[in-house]
Amino acid sequence: MRVLAVASECYPLVKTGGLADVVGALPAALAHHGVVTTTLLPGYPAMAQATRSGRVVHRWPDLLGAEARLIETQLGTQPLLVLDAPELYARPGGPYADESGRDWPDNWRRFAALSRAAGELAAGLVDGYRFDLLHAHDWQAGLAPAYARALGAAAKSVATIHNIAFQGVFDRGIFPRLGLPESMWSIDGLEYYGQVGFLKAGLALADRITTVSPTYAQEIRREQFGMGLQGLIATRGATGIVNGLDPAVWNPETDAALPARYTHRLLDRRSRNRAAVEQTFGLSEGGPLFCVVSRLTEQKGMDVLATLLDELVDGGGRLALLGSGDKALEAAFLAAAHRHPGSIGIRIGYDEVLSHLLQGGADAILIPSRFEPCGLTQLYGLAYGCVPVVARTGGLADTVIDANQAALAAGVATGIVHDGVTPDALSHAITRAMHLHARPPVWRRLQENGMRADWSWDASARTYADLFRQLTVQP
Ligand code: ADP
Ligand code: GLC
Repeated sequence: MRVLAVASECYPLVKTGGLADVVGALPAALAHHGVVTTTLLPGYPAMAQATRSGRVVHRWPDLLGAEARLIETQLGTQPLLVLDAPELYARPGGPYADESGRDWPDNWRRFAALSRAAGELAAGLVDGYRFDLLHAHDWQAGLAPAYARALGAAAKSVATIHNIAFQGVFDRGIFPRLGLPESMWSIDGLEYYGQVGFLKAGLALADRITTVSPTYAQEIRREQFGMGLQGLIATRGATGIVNGLDPAVWNPETDAALPARYTHRLLDRRSRNRAAVEQTFGLSEGGPLFCVVSRLTEQKGMDVLATLLDELVDGGGRLALLGSGDKALEAAFLAAAHRHPGSIGIRIGYDEVLSHLLQGGADAILIPSRFEPCGLTQLYGLAYGCVPVVARTGGLADTVIDANQAALAAGVATGIVHDGVTPDALSHAITRAMHLHARPPVWRRLQENGMRADWSWDASARTYADLFRQLTVQP
């Protein structure tokens, strides 16, 4: 089966979060289940090298008003298509925003063009390409099922929600410029409370909706999590398939970012990594070392954590935090580091290597998310013996087993799970983590259980492949 995956980011080419990890890893996992995935990405500057080694396979003189070329190349062993349209994508800054963090004002056109190209590919309008199924990731690819349908594509489509909080909603004035049939301006199409909704369009027009964990699939049927789309999700349904991790990238036995590599049988080696974390973050030796690798936002509960830092240090804990985002939160964490030199170390920024070192050296990773469609850092924590302390929501609830009495007695606990994201709940979770850490055999068991669990993509890739097959089998 041939699948066209459409997305706005893909590890290792361009990444702002977990979406990139998923788009980068899923194709190789699907290949073991008979699915050949070609990934279509925008031609950002970060793609220049990949593009140079490719060949031009199609040209558009006018794709949403821009000149564009389609370049075929490879990413590892997987086929890759890059939409090279300098007017839309060749800019400094990130995939969605300029260097100062302001969203590009023409994002609607940038991602409509990506989706239009995908629709044409799915409809067989680009010579040499045939696909059985279109897999649209998040709002940036939300219009792809709409274009595919408008162009009469026989290919089926799946829309995957990685985060329903980001919906790509634009002024209704753009609708005539999208080149879609007038009939799609309706509640069953792109119209979303009088505006154009890119994610909404994908969810309304794709043949199937999936999201990245079973619990999140249930949560987004409700107002509290659905962000306005709960009615549509409740009506159409969403299949929850939990993300996996790419063992070629996240494996403590082979990880080149770690001073000391290890397995669950050689956990003592982690102390060398811990020393490297201490050095990098300017920490003195001491009690349990917590880490954070995260966007610093309200979604991630970082505002609540920020209020507990004095308490964490007073209780004997330490914190190494890597992240960036909300400026007020960045300032709050930096101020705490200033108050507690040697106990709190903060790195504002994005650093892939350091993110591996933290997982390989810290004792525990804090993930107090208010909502978390899947979350990947807890999976990396499990694989690295960096015990996850997480809120019971979305994929966090589906992947971490709380160290309650029953789970400890059965020997199956892998982390600490708290209910709700309040100062009380998080403070209690941190205290529990410290108590467990003070019992080395118990703590080691938590680490080993996490490391032994298989969070590779294999099982979830099989579920995707089965779902793709169900959709494409002719009755
Ligand atoms: P989200 O996509 O919502 O941000 P995920 O947990 O799914 O959350 O994925 C986050 C990804 O981004 C992980 O691969 C994580 O290691 C990485 N990451 C987040 N912040 C940073 C950072 N400051 N530096 C390096 N990697 C980061
Ligand atoms: C989104 C979600 C995160 C998920 C990632 C990959 O960024 O916030 O929970 O892991 O997508 O699916």
